[in-house]
Amino acid sequence: MAPKKKYGVNELREMFLSFFESKGCLRLNSFSLVPHNDNSLLIINSGMAPMKPWFTGQEIPPRRRVTTCQKCIRTGDLENVGKTARHGTYFEMLGNFSFGDYFKKEAIPWAWEFLTEVVGLDADRLYPSVYEKDDESYNIWLNDMHIPAERIYKFGKEDNFWEHGSGPCGPCTEIYYDRGPEFGNGPEDVMGGEGDRFMEVWNVVFSQFNNDGHGNYTDLVQKNIDTGMGLERLAVAVQGVGSLFDVDTVKSLRDLVCTLAGGIAYEQPDTHDTDVSVRICTDHARAMTFMISDGIMPSNNGRGYVLRRIIRRAVRHGRKLGIKGSFLTKLAENVIEGSKDGYPELEEKRDFILNVIQAEEDKFEKTYEQGMDILQSMEDELEAAGRKELSGENAFKLYDTYGFPIDNTKEILEEKGYTVDEAGFNAAMKKQKETAREDRKKSGKSSTYMGAAATIYEEMDPAINSEFIGYDKTQADSRIVAMAAFAGEEEDSDSVVEALADGQSGAIITAETPFYGTMGGQVGDIGTIVLGSDDTEAAALGKGAAVFQVTATEHVAGNKIAHIGKVVKGMFKLGDTVTLKVDEKERMATCRNHSATHLLQKALREVLGTHVEQAGSYQDADRTRFDFSHFQAMTPEELKKVEDLVNEKIQAGLPVKTEIMSLDDAKKSGAMALFGEKYGDKVRVVRMGDFSTELCGGTHVSNTLQIGQFKILSESGVAAGVRRIEALTGDNVRKYYEKLEAQLKDAASLLKATPDTLADHIRKLQDELKASRSENESLKAKEAQNALGDVTGNAKDINGVKFVASALKDVDPDELRNLGDSLKTKLGDGSVILLLADNGGKVNLMCMADDTAVGKGAHAGNIIRSAAKILGGGGGGRPNMAQAGGKDATRINDAIADAENILKAQIR
Ligand code: ALA
Repeated sequence: MAPKKKYGVNELREMFLSFFESKGCLRLNSFSLVPHNDNSLLIINSGMAPMKPWFTGQEIPPRRRVTTCQKCIRTGDLENVGKTARHGTYFEMLGNFSFGDYFKKEAIPWAWEFLTEVVGLDADRLYPSVYEKDDESYNIWLNDMHIPAERIYKFGKEDNFWEHGSGPCGPCTEIYYDRGPEFGNGPEDVMGGEGDRFMEVWNVVFSQFNNDGHGNYTDLVQKNIDTGMGLERLAVAVQGVGSLFDVDTVKSLRDLVCTLAGGIAYEQPDTHDTDVSVRICTDHARAMTFMISDGIMPSNNGRGYVLRRIIRRAVRHGRKLGIKGSFLTKLAENVIEGSKDGYPELEEKRDFILNVIQAEEDKFEKTYEQGMDILQSMEDELEAAGRKELSGENAFKLYDTYGFPIDNTKEILEEKGYTVDEAGFNAAMKKQKETAREDRKKSGKSSTYMGAAATIYEEMDPAINSEFIGYDKTQADSRIVAMAAFAGEEEDSDSVVEALADGQSGAIITAETPFYGTMGGQVGDIGTIVLGSDDTEAAALGKGAAVFQVTATEHVAGNKIAHIGKVVKGMFKLGDTVTLKVDEKERMATCRNHSATHLLQKALREVLGTHVEQAGSYQDADRTRFDFSHFQAMTPEELKKVEDLVNEKIQAGLPVKTEIMSLDDAKKSGAMALFGEKYGDKVRVVRMGDFSTELCGGTHVSNTLQIGQFKILSESGVAAGVRRIEALTGDNVRKYYEKLEAQLKDAASLLKATPDTLADHIRKLQDELKASRSENESLKAKEAQNALGDVTGNAKDINGVKFVASALKDVDPDELRNLGDSLKTKLGDGSVILLLADNGGKVNLMCMADDTAVGKGAHAGNIIRSAAKILGGGGGGRPNMAQAGGKDATRINDAIADAENILKAQIR
């Protein structure tokens, strides 16, 4: 057995990690406290949380055995943290993990070996517990580890089944340490009891289920091991001290708090009240330091709000202890010193961490006294009214105006026996957020989109400018000089920030940038901003890079170029030197379109005349759009001439040269400039051989050959005297033809033809179609004629006019007219004809009267209007010819009878 030694926290961390390395585990750095791609969790709260995709099998781990010491924060019961010494918000979790690799038979003996042989805890003081249904683990403890049966405890699901929200979970075996009767000797000081004597140190989870977050469990594909041992707890056992607040590193911090408070004592018989405040300051200083080191910024939402509450709670308890002036940075420095061994990033980010804490402390300080006064007057009112609950509105006022987080207010009032209407507070908060969201919508400043955040840049230091250095390079290193976080669904507004963490959308501004910002019609670059190495191996080891995906680059207020996008990994902070990498393919494609546009403008002037002036333009990686003055549509010949001329100049391989010169010189050299545009004294002139010279700030190919191809897609009018050409270049032309080719082949294959013979096939088909259409029509005519039969015999004499009315089936309106015409001829002078066709329940009507009948007063239009009405439809027409439609074929006979009556009335 190892000698009993009171190892320090930093030593224990290292001992654990190297022990599991010796068991084949890959040692990884702690992951960030900010969860990556996991919306189910606000802050990382266990060693396994960042590894969920490795447990579920969604992602492949870098090795199937891994060991870490993970920074964790649990704030579920923030209000109670500090009241006892049992737990804090911040702790470190030692873990070893197997993803479908080793299982119970290894994990249990290794845990035992580490505790007893490496660390040297007394085996007789260690007690395992198992899940009551897990015989396998029980037998390993009993038979392999030779632990007497009476020392192995079987517990139920609430103790020995581990899960935390959604994700992997399972039964577990725990190891308890008996600290001895001096730490508790009451009835609860037994295994499984609530007392302090038996302390759980290690939890080995057999992670074999997945909880979908709604309590539905499915088997994981692989059986995994997830172990968690609180580093501070282990140190408590090893160092034989009372609580986590007494282990070496934490105690040093605790002592500092006591010193700053004027040398007060801790855990003496009369110090209970100050003990609470000492513990709160101690724990919260650790939490805030680590949170900020991972890029969490104090704010009114999400993680940022957790941090704000923690900082403000610490400030308030510092005041309670009588600490004057700002003190949190002193505590943070102690945390950095105590933990930089395990977390070198604390040292690297020291200034940043201290600045953020100082700023937040100052901010709270400014309103703290005022807030306390207001709260006092609110208490007086309650007292006078004999009430015990502070209204939600008042709690919200304290929050909104004086920056008192709700738990702060609650805690202060609780000490005096008051409560707070939390539901009312939440409602007021919700209302404010909704109003803010509405306002944002109204002002068009919803900043999930880039242009949106325009006003946020006005809040940045105007002295900060950025310089574009990307005409001849697409990658450069530069320093972050300003940043903004964009409001998400939850936040009140965009804010200028000093850090952006994983998952946050915002803008990064660097002193120099190779990213072109949208200007002069050319769309800005996209790409990535990388901090540290982004090579995949380093990434798999949890080391290296932070990555910001740039989805747009814009010129914003104050001569700044904003890279707009989202952190997809890690964190960025002010002052970081980052590598800016423009997406070269996209940039090149955009350059092709832009350079081609210069050639196009010149070609248009040559073909159409010098009245052609640029009226607008837009280039991105996909296409170019060019608007110009011209007064009629271009002819196909003109378009072809322009397209040919541009392609000729591409193939001529004209060198593209840029030069900065005075505006006068530029004009003398014949450069095309934008009509009515204001230029500075110095302008940039882009020349393509002797063909085109233009004033332009955009990026270009270096030789026209690089444009490859130019293809006009369309020419159209956009306003009076303004035409628009849309065109493609380079690869996009090839892709366009590829698509066309595929469509052509598709069409040809439908006709069992080849693209070559497609037109012939279509012509043939058209001829055939024409022939069968006319055949069809004459057949239909014959059929209708047959159906009508010889109805001349049915003609009724109505006051000397021959009237024929006949109902048919399935005859279209044109055919009805043909039938009517032939019937009219047959009937001879003085006839009125009404034909009705039932076409699938709907009715088509046609009525005609010859000149003689009309002369006698017949009016086809009026007859049909009345008949159609009966059929639920409408229509009408001239005296000699009318057509109509109806909806109710069942009433055709009524319609005929009606027509007869109308006709009777018409004939004089
Ligand atoms: N994930 C387990 C825990 O947090 C080990 O206790």
